[in-house]
Amino acid sequence: MPTLGTEAAPAAQARPGAPAPDGLAGKRALITGGAGGLGSACARALAARGAHVIVADRDGAAAAAVAAQVGGESWEVDLLETSALESLSLEVDILVNNAGIQTISPLEDFDPAAFRRILTIMLEAPFLLIRAALPHMYAQGHGRIINMSSIHGLRASSYKSAYVAAKHGLEGLSKVTAREGGEHGVTSNCVNPGYVRTPLVEGQIADQAKTHGIPAEQVLAEVMLAKNAIKRLVEPEEIANLVSWLASDQSAMVTGSSYVMDGGWTA
Ligand SMILES: NC(=O)c1ccc[n+]([C@@H]2O[C@H](COP(=O)([O-])OP(=O)(O)OC[C@H]3O[C@@H](n4cnc5c(N)ncnc54)[C@H](O)[C@@H]3O)[C@@H](O)[C@H]2O)c1
Repeated sequence: MPTLGTEAAPAAQARPGAPAPDGLAGKRALITGGAGGLGSACARALAARGAHVIVADRDGAAAAAVAAQVGGESWEVDLLETSALESLSLEVDILVNNAGIQTISPLEDFDPAAFRRILTIMLEAPFLLIRAALPHMYAQGHGRIINMSSIHGLRASSYKSAYVAAKHGLEGLSKVTAREGGEHGVTSNCVNPGYVRTPLVEGQIADQAKTHGIPAEQVLAEVMLAKNAIKRLVEPEEIANLVSWLASDQSAMVTGSSYVMDGGWTA
């Protein structure tokens, strides 16, 4: 296999502060949940900057469709099957831990199996994939880990105990990865979106409109965007642009950070 991504090496010796390229030609990027709303937007954005994208998802057909769109490849994988991930070795330059699910329930009724599933997909699997990717990244002295966290990695909301716990855990994992990876040219950061216009969120709006007997626009304005300074959903492409920048050499001094894009929700 040719050594990919070696063009990144000079950036490490370049004068500090000198402009670095934002292109990703020659880089291999793995995106989990790559068939979903945010994952597919990230796949398109990274591919548009020249990366070869591996679209990983439990929905093999949808992953293959996104891979075909971006000239990449697909990997059908169920991140709940963690034993298979323990012996994995990944030769990628960019890892985007993005796959996620949600369960909403009061703590006293929260199904323990659902809690474990969320922690497995959204915390244990990212750990195992980072663990599998670091040896190659360390060997080449360059790597980018990008963890799709959430405003719920930094703040809590009622009825989302597993999701909030998993995202807070992911924040910690990302920072430890940053600490250990620094001397090897590997950065690790979180991206923290507010509500993004994806099928997942559009479904939640429709459900709540039905439950409360109010129009979808009212759910959006009064429930989801109540705390927003800017009263609209984040577009997947806006998050994908941030991910692309974090994946590039321009972000070389950014590590252990969490980048909020929430229209002012956390403010
Ligand atoms: N949509 C939002 O408003 C929003 C806000 C903040 C953070 N996020 C985070 O962004 C990420 C992507 O969310 P999205 O909105 O694109 O959701 P989505 O449902 O559109 O995509 C999630 C993808 O993950 C895949 N997936 C789920 N379980 C899997 C498993 N066991 N193995 C492999 N793949 C699996 C699904 O098949 C799907 O393609 C999640 O981590 C989510 O928590 C989303």
